[in-house]
Amino acid sequence: MTGQSFDWMGRRIPFRTGESLAAALEAAGILTFGPDTLGQETRYFCGIGACQCCLLRVDGVVREACITPARAGMQVEALERRHD
Ligand code: FES
Repeated sequence: MTGQSFDWMGRRIPFRTGESLAAALEAAGILTFGPDTLGQETRYFCGIGACQCCLLRVDGVVREACITPARAGMQVEALERRHD
């Protein structure tokens, strides 16, 4: 794969310049972003940083996926690991 990408849970996700993490993940077919600290699935919802439904961990820092621009080489993961 060529072009810009970031890492989502071990998977390379391509993105276009200026695209948010949420938009890039959605374009890659990833519609939920894993469990939050209460075990609820996070996901893209309001798109303006208000609802906090799309929280992710980006390079170890909690961020809203809908308002965080994707950057090459970011390490993006769910807030919590799934315990199946
Ligand atoms: S979707 Fe509401 S804060 Fe991101």
